Amino acid sequence: MTNERLRFLALLLASIAADLSLMATAQLRPDHYAGVCPDLESIVRGAVSRSMAHSPVAAPATLRLFFHDCAVRGCDASILLTRPDGGDEWRSPDGLTLKPEGFDTVMHAKDAVDGDPRCRHKVSCADVLALAARDAVYLSGGPNYEVELGRYDGTASTESSVTVPHGDFDLDRLNAFFSGLGLSQTDMIALSGAHTIGAAACNFFEYRVAVGNETAGDPAAAGMDAGFAARLRGACAGATNNRSGGFAFLDGATPTRFDNAYYENLRRGRGVLGSDQALHDDARSRGKVELYAGDEDAFFDDFAAAMMRLGRVGVRMAGNGEIRRDCRFPN
Ligand code: HEM
Repeated sequence: MTNERLRFLALLLASIAADLSLMATAQLRPDHYAGVCPDLESIVRGAVSRSMAHSPVAAPATLRLFFHDCAVRGCDASILLTRPDGGDEWRSPDGLTLKPEGFDTVMHAKDAVDGDPRCRHKVSCADVLALAARDAVYLSGGPNYEVELGRYDGTASTESSVTVPHGDFDLDRLNAFFSGLGLSQTDMIALSGAHTIGAAACNFFEYRVAVGNETAGDPAAAGMDAGFAARLRGACAGATNNRSGGFAFLDGATPTRFDNAYYENLRRGRGVLGSDQALHDDARSRGKVELYAGDEDAFFDDFAAAMMRLGRVGVRMAGNGEIRRDCRFPN
């Protein structure tokens, strides 16, 4: 085959692939279940609200679960699958840090949906997870954004497919990861605002405050607020490992409220993770941090738009997915 023909073939394939992915997202619609499960949104919201009344961890754990689902194999609820032999996504080293309260919240929401005879076995786990993540945001004080629906569930989950960003990533590594999902730097900065709720265990940040590592240097010299560094050090000093409970709230100002205080913390050198603080420390992303710190509506708008784009990543349709009856197992 000539070079020209090869180039033509490559162009043709690329345009077919782009069309297919557009078709997939074009089929997502907020009213996808209007005919079969008209009360879906209120059923899921009621269930998430009950989980949140039960545990303050439910909201942050559910929001993070959605990210970890979409970032690996797309938003297909593969993170909820349990393989009898292990080796599934949630039992990877990163998956094991996801808190059980997030899984419980989604399972309870799916049970509540299936409790309505009209909806039974008609709503995908991936969509229940997307709605539950939105409700975790809204019921914590964040935006009540619209969720596109119509995703189908995947059937595969493997530990080896798990790659998620780590707390010591700098801006270039964060951007590389998110652009791999088709998301922009602005999307990434807005989505990082999810760290306005929830907590991180000491092992994710103690290196920054030199707990047990005196060679790490002076955190204040690196721009960290000195009082904040002392508090982080105090939170971890007695903790020998994760399970002993050493942790810090990712937004120490308003840890359970979904607001823009996370960005103000970054301005003051009070970011818990290195990947959080990098957003302010790097001049290329600082402008957005300043904007969101001063304008909560701008943050909420960009967060909602970024969640919609995150929710489109790797979406499956009827032809390559199913509606799982039990979110833990393929049908
Ligand atoms: C930008 C790259 C990101 C990095 C490096 C990162 C890293 C982390 C780390 C290390 C933790 C602490 C985990 C633990 O202690 O077990 C965490 C917690 C959390 N992350 Fe992220 N994350 C990122 C993006 C996101 C996104 C996009 C979302 C959701 C849209 C999200 C939502 C959360 C939430 C809500 C928590 C708190 C979880 C809880 O308290 O149970 N993160 N993240």
